Amino acid sequence: MSGNQNTTPMLSIDQAVKILLAGGIVAIPTETVYGLAGNASNPESIKKIFKAKGRPENHPLIVHISSFDEIYLWAKVVPEKAKILAKKFWPGPLTMVLAKADSVNYSITGGQETVAIRVPNQKLTLEILKKMGTGVAAPSANRFGHVSPTMPSHVLEELDGLIDGVVDGGQCEVGIESTIVDLTSDTVRLLRPGRISIDELELCLGEKISINSVNAPRVPGLLKSHYAPNTPLKIIDYNQLDTEINNYIKKGFSINIWSQHKPKIENPLLFWIQAPKDPIQFAHDLYDQIRKFDKNHSDIILIEKPSIENNAWQGVLDRLTRAQAHFE
Ligand code: TXA
Ligand code: MG
Repeated sequence: MSGNQNTTPMLSIDQAVKILLAGGIVAIPTETVYGLAGNASNPESIKKIFKAKGRPENHPLIVHISSFDEIYLWAKVVPEKAKILAKKFWPGPLTMVLAKADSVNYSITGGQETVAIRVPNQKLTLEILKKMGTGVAAPSANRFGHVSPTMPSHVLEELDGLIDGVVDGGQCEVGIESTIVDLTSDTVRLLRPGRISIDELELCLGEKISINSVNAPRVPGLLKSHYAPNTPLKIIDYNQLDTEINNYIKKGFSINIWSQHKPKIENPLLFWIQAPKDPIQFAHDLYDQIRKFDKNHSDIILIEKPSIENNAWQGVLDRLTRAQAHFE
């Protein structure tokens, strides 16, 4: 999958475990996106992650563990609500922010007193975590601010030669990063929407969840501009689709368009791909589609705005909005 020109090796589970325990950094598959993993108990590994990603060091990382029982190694306080959510959603695409245990290094938490934790639902990575006997810190395995990788080839496009290897788990099932909730105060707060929707969280806890407030902890995924392709990206309402296309064609722009509705206009400058009507499939395809569009080198990528009434689209809409913001 990586092609012969890449220098980064593909690793077996045992090789990955060995490298991680020796302080190296390895891209690992999760059900959401590929992570760039380092031993969470080793500050030197953490430093390497920041360096390879080009990420500012005050931005915290998620600790990935193999089962709920390990949570007590990382969190000082595990509220009842965290137990309820873990029971329902772990292993799975839910990250919980909790008060950190004293032993957790501040390089993971961006200097904060809280730590983000999740149990990923990917069998190769769960095996790696079990064999290591400790957690791995892993941000998405892309250069800072770019589109997250959902395939090994995506990882190599950005990090070849900068990391010690990749574990190939094929294409990620979910396709967008985990839902993040903050459980450090009485009111549960949604910090980043994902496959697990606010409706599902509220149903599980039987209470309202608030959406990220101004005082939220640092979350780079919440920078206004993030998840950005190289080509300018614009979200378009369905009823504006044909007008916008016409305007760009008049300007001589080549256009890549991903929309649920087929544009009425046909033109050699226009390259249309049918977008999935289902939010789960849309999220699954999103980053790969954006990378494919980038490779086409059109002047602009247009994406039809998905439904805002249905909360299942929140994660997708959030990523699209941030990708677009990069060009505003
Ligand atoms: O699905 C995912 O979450 C993927 C896979 C690899 O697990 N990881 C991921 O990592 O998206 P990253 O670093 O790209 O985004 C993690 C988010 C960041 O926005 C970060 O700020 C937030 O988690 N985070 C980490 N620790 C936090 C904390 N203590 N308080 C608030 N947010 C935190
Ligand atoms: Mg990321």
